[in-house]
Amino acid sequence: MCRSLFRTALLTGSLLSSFALADDATITLSIDESQPGPTIHRNIYGQFMEHLGRGIYEGIWVGEDADIPNTRGYRKDVLKALKDLEVPLLRWPGGCFADEYHWRDGIGPREERTRTVNTTWGGVIDDNAFGTHEFFELAEMLDAEVYVNGNLGTGSPREMAAWLEYMTSDTDSTLANLRRANGRDKPWKVDYFAIGNEAWGCGGNMTPEYYTHLYKHYATFLKTPADNRPVMIASGGQVDETIWTETLASQVKPNWSLRMDAISHHYYTLPTGDWAKKGEAIGFDESEWFSTLKQTLRVEGFIQDNVAILDKYDPEKKIGFYVDEWGTWYDVTEGHNPGFLYQQNSLRDAVVAAVNLNIFHAYAERVQMTNIAQMINVLQAMILTDKEKMLLTPTYHVFRMHVPFQDVTALPFTLEGAPEYTLNGESVPGVSASAARDAKGRTWLTLVNLNPNQAVEVALSGYKQAKGEVLTAEEMDAHNTFDSPERVTPKPYKAKAQSGKLSLPLPAKSVIVVQLK
Ligand code: AHR
Repeated sequence: MCRSLFRTALLTGSLLSSFALADDATITLSIDESQPGPTIHRNIYGQFMEHLGRGIYEGIWVGEDADIPNTRGYRKDVLKALKDLEVPLLRWPGGCFADEYHWRDGIGPREERTRTVNTTWGGVIDDNAFGTHEFFELAEMLDAEVYVNGNLGTGSPREMAAWLEYMTSDTDSTLANLRRANGRDKPWKVDYFAIGNEAWGCGGNMTPEYYTHLYKHYATFLKTPADNRPVMIASGGQVDETIWTETLASQVKPNWSLRMDAISHHYYTLPTGDWAKKGEAIGFDESEWFSTLKQTLRVEGFIQDNVAILDKYDPEKKIGFYVDEWGTWYDVTEGHNPGFLYQQNSLRDAVVAAVNLNIFHAYAERVQMTNIAQMINVLQAMILTDKEKMLLTPTYHVFRMHVPFQDVTALPFTLEGAPEYTLNGESVPGVSASAARDAKGRTWLTLVNLNPNQAVEVALSGYKQAKGEVLTAEEMDAHNTFDSPERVTPKPYKAKAQSGKLSLPLPAKSVIVVQLK
């Protein structure tokens, strides 16, 4: 078995030691190209940036006068990394912060902007240098769609409606002219707009009924030009809750003029499942590797339960189910402000990300957007910065490897014989997969091996070659540091059919993304 493995795969030296193949590892995968499924929307790869810690300030925005090389205030190294990621969508300004954000604080000459206390995240002063204009400029530079989260908790229908008018109006109104005076002549396109965030908690500790009434109340007054109507998002539940979806979907009809086009849902992966002691970002043992994956896989059930409710009230599938906050959440790294939610990011995060993406692909009909939390320096970040230094995390690499999965057609597949990954009497699926065809007719496959000890080999019929990249490492908590930023990086991967059979070796704890021919 091992010899055939090395004949069929070209792998770099450091990966070979991960290849202790399971004796019974005969896994077969067949992809049905004749039954194309739904579109895997590019916005499943959406990003989230909140006024939280160093997510925006220092992370992307350093200001025009900074010593760090920048383009009109945005750091050049981070901009380049985000462009390579082909970020499809940016969600801003929060999160919990959204419900205390007053948009007028962040417009006009920067030196005159209001200084506010970020009472949610660390009590630090926000000088509001990054506001509406800066957000849209960033999105334009990245060619990304925008998702603006409105303030329901401490705002008013008038304030929310005025922000939308400021952003979208092409009239001679005072607000449209204020936008012009602040440097933006043409209205922006607001692709997505949410009324509040986590209404059950930081957004106002509301009940589903109370929030649903408020949603209808606010949505009534959010008027934009007919050709610039955002996709309207209601703030839904978290974890295993379905009551928010049930209440919203039963009381707000998709065909009304006040629209609810999607319901959001939040789920964070905690290794222990305990908010008081979540678990460490690095230096964990195998039981926490296992429990993290077990926790993350739960999201599939949460999606299924909520989708079943949507199917009941919205059989035409008009309402989307957006997981607009997801990712790992660990105990804050010592020496960092506890309110800044800074954490290291290891190979475990890469595997978590890839497994979640495969689950989102599988429910692409309803799950047309997700936003990993968060883009830079916060929680499961793509990028970490330390003053002038920057590193790309293993999660970044997974997102970059998956760029071919943006806006593709999902293909059904059958995966048989994959061994479960078992530890201390508990099991999770050992292999996760998804397949898709892009607009150019190319077939893409992603495979994840969740087992940190055992390599496997996946036999695939109907193809002669697989070519792409593999991400793996020796240690479960392998991570990049500012001194060694390239410890965990993708390596080229290639497998060729032998005697008409294509076998894909999957190192222990690895992610591969390949094009099939
Ligand atoms: O992403 C961090 C926080 O997590 C967000 O502000 C909030 O919506 C969630 O509780």
